[in-house]
Amino acid sequence: MTTTQTSKALSVTKRYADPDSKSARLHRQATAVMPGGNSRTTVHMAPYPPYAAEGQGCFVVDVDGDRRLDLLNNYTALIHGHAHPSITTAATARLARGTSFPLPTVEEVELASLLVERLPAVEQVRFTNSGSEAVMMAIKAARGFTGRPKIAKFEGAYHGSYDYAEVSLSSTPANWGSLAEPASTAYSRGTPPAVLEDVIVLPFNRPELAARRIERHASELAAVIVDPVPNRVGLMPADREFLESLRAVTAAHGVVLIFDEVISFRIGYHGAQGHFGIRPDLTTLGKIIGGGFPVGAVGGRADVMAVFDPTKGTPPVPHGGTFNANPVTMAAGLAGMRLMDRAAFDRLAEFGAKLRDGIAACFKDAGVGGSVTGVGSLFRVHPSQRTLSDYRSSRADTAEAARLDRIVRFLLDHGVLLSTTGLGCLSTPMGDPELESFLAVFSAALEAERGHA
Ligand SMILES: Cc1ncc(COP(=O)(O)O)c(C=O)c1O
Repeated sequence: MTTTQTSKALSVTKRYADPDSKSARLHRQATAVMPGGNSRTTVHMAPYPPYAAEGQGCFVVDVDGDRRLDLLNNYTALIHGHAHPSITTAATARLARGTSFPLPTVEEVELASLLVERLPAVEQVRFTNSGSEAVMMAIKAARGFTGRPKIAKFEGAYHGSYDYAEVSLSSTPANWGSLAEPASTAYSRGTPPAVLEDVIVLPFNRPELAARRIERHASELAAVIVDPVPNRVGLMPADREFLESLRAVTAAHGVVLIFDEVISFRIGYHGAQGHFGIRPDLTTLGKIIGGGFPVGAVGGRADVMAVFDPTKGTPPVPHGGTFNANPVTMAAGLAGMRLMDRAAFDRLAEFGAKLRDGIAACFKDAGVGGSVTGVGSLFRVHPSQRTLSDYRSSRADTAEAARLDRIVRFLLDHGVLLSTTGLGCLSTPMGDPELESFLAVFSAALEAERGHA
């Protein structure tokens, strides 16, 4: 990638905004056949998003011909960016030989072996089609293993689209209750009250408060689920002592500790569990392990995973799924993960640190209130200078949310794709020229923001 190409990519990219653009027309067509024209709440943008046409490496081109640096990588799933030649070759070779069978395949066994080899706490693994399903199956496994009904999760933490996993995802100061005993609030209208009763909500990175609450409910708790680098909580990594305390209290009470590594597997060759040196009982995976195809996995201790074992009749926790472990996903995932050796993870982490330093320097130089969190190849831009420690402190107020919105929109209109929540991540095709170009556009966004101060 040359600097000339890069600066071309980072020019004005606003053709989608024209009411007669292809994106605008597609959106009008989409709203007639899908609610809000949308199949995925996360990708909604007001009034409508640019529609993607294609991606190559770390760039995406929209249907109106504008090209953007992709710093979102389908919400962290694409660690090699778009259309990586090795992944494309592996997936198309598999495609040409059949895409799914009511029989297992060699690719499934090979990807399972790779995950078991890399993740210290994963002795056995099963595949699903999404991270949400992986979380659902992990919770069911914990219930089946312990015979207990309830789970505990952390306030604000996202674990996918499953009733139990969604509790207290969007609590507000009006309903979140005390920090010691956060309230169980519904995310979706219509959430059954029984779901709220069966989910105990905990404060993140507060070892004493969390341990006390777990102990109080231990006899009914099947599992505690924690994302060690929870995006919606603010993307502040957990403190090691906090995770150690969770490990100790759950072990003492026979509660299954689940690490949700759907995103955090990105932070190292051995995942977040290797990074922090903690062994959870179960681990959920997704995103990067599928090479850009739909995927999820649940893995962990062999005795807990045995609840899925069908060899002795119907297992305690049956687990079906027409496309589970389909060989195209498995082949693409294998190709992508094999490219992610230790050096590749280290390079991304180094690059991530450089990017976070660069963003922090931009805020400082511009005199605009803001900060950046993250670890490894992950980062999140925050529109505030507060000390961020948990969901409550990182939740943007109305003015801050409006500031972030303007910054993200400026980036979108000047060649950079970032999440509307400020989440971003790196991919292996990115290099220093792209980093420098991004920081130049980010500075320009903050310069524009000074006009709003
Ligand atoms: C931590 C975490 N868990 C679970 C999920 C759900 O994964 P999926 O979108 O593949 O269902 C996500 C998705 O972003 C996630 O970030």
